[in-house]
Amino acid sequence: MAVVNEHYGKLQAGYLFPEIGRRTRAFAEAHPEAKIIRLGIGDVTLPLCPAVREAMHAAVDEMGTAEGFKGYGPDQGYDFLVDAIREHDYKARGVALEADEIFLSDGSKQDSGNIQEIFGTAATLAVTDPVYPVYVDTNVMAGRTGEADESGRYGGILYLPATEANAFTPPPPETRVDVAYLCSPNNPTGAVMDREALAAWVAWARENDAVLVFDAAYDAFIQDDALPRSIYEIEGAAECAIEMRSFSKRAGFTGVRCAYTVVPKALMGTTAAGERVSLHDLWARRQATKFNGVPYVIQRGAAAVFSPEGRKQTAEQVAYYMRNAGLVRAGLSDAGFTVYAGEHAPYIWLKTPDGLSSWDCFDQLLERAHVVGTPGSGFGPSGEGFFRISAFNSRENVEEAIARIRKAFGS
Ligand code: MLT
Repeated sequence: MAVVNEHYGKLQAGYLFPEIGRRTRAFAEAHPEAKIIRLGIGDVTLPLCPAVREAMHAAVDEMGTAEGFKGYGPDQGYDFLVDAIREHDYKARGVALEADEIFLSDGSKQDSGNIQEIFGTAATLAVTDPVYPVYVDTNVMAGRTGEADESGRYGGILYLPATEANAFTPPPPETRVDVAYLCSPNNPTGAVMDREALAAWVAWARENDAVLVFDAAYDAFIQDDALPRSIYEIEGAAECAIEMRSFSKRAGFTGVRCAYTVVPKALMGTTAAGERVSLHDLWARRQATKFNGVPYVIQRGAAAVFSPEGRKQTAEQVAYYMRNAGLVRAGLSDAGFTVYAGEHAPYIWLKTPDGLSSWDCFDQLLERAHVVGTPGSGFGPSGEGFFRISAFNSRENVEEAIARIRKAFGS
């Protein structure tokens, strides 16, 4: 008999979104007449834009010729995409990155889950709470935590509550940890960190010789150009931060899969004996061993996001979702809900009505309005009493969902 990884036994429940799917399916089977509107998982609904489709078609045709065929690509990604990322996502905002500091991948979920492999099992962690579950669960699986307590917090992780009192943006802790996970615009709360908030974290990380894992998968939804999109817009961040960005939400790639992680060469970690080691080199080694790159056709599609047409077309998609977010925010706030976010993120974070628990709110919304959202407590104990509504759906469905929620909850 093979000995199993018993750390998996510490995981508290199934992964959040499959559990939502299970409850939704059970409801749909029991009520086949119900037209369910899904505003739960943040999954895009608009089709791929023409610029991306054309680039992918052309790449398929190219692969069908003897001269154009490609096998394994360069480890970290083709130059045409890496250079477009450097130019548009970084240089345009005053950040200089070297090409080999960018690692293309098939998704930020994978990258944010895999990154913990380059840290020691004894590394100490901090997360904001509520939090994207991947950061926590992957560290539990790796044996870096103790058991969960009654509130659902795992031993060995420092939870930083994101509450109404701190505008869902916790400041750095007093305590030192090795690795802190940050996400801005935040999933699930939709809160966005301004320059000052981010600078406080960078200063803290530098003082404490800590590493920040900065997840910027939703950066395209930031509406105010003065807000930072990359942590490297803050001076000194290249010595203390890893950054993740994705094409999933910004260009409708959730089913296509393309993202990237930046690990600057200036970023160092420490061995138990005190020797300084390049985290860039460890991640490069990890990726070379476990990953064979993003398909050529998809990299061509991602590069088209940066063409003039691609930028315009994807900006229109983002604007469409943000208009949805604005409608949800206004519609539910008019109806008396306490509503947060939805201004720089495709998520609305609301207080559950009538003091309902997050999961009770989920069940009631499903039963009374046939609308699926995401219970805040599924993202961590401080999410209890909150609920997340995603703006990723058609205008028609979003408007219908707002009307139904208002009716179901009496206004
Ligand atoms: C979410 O709904 O939180 C996201 O879709 C999850 C993800 O991007 O993996």
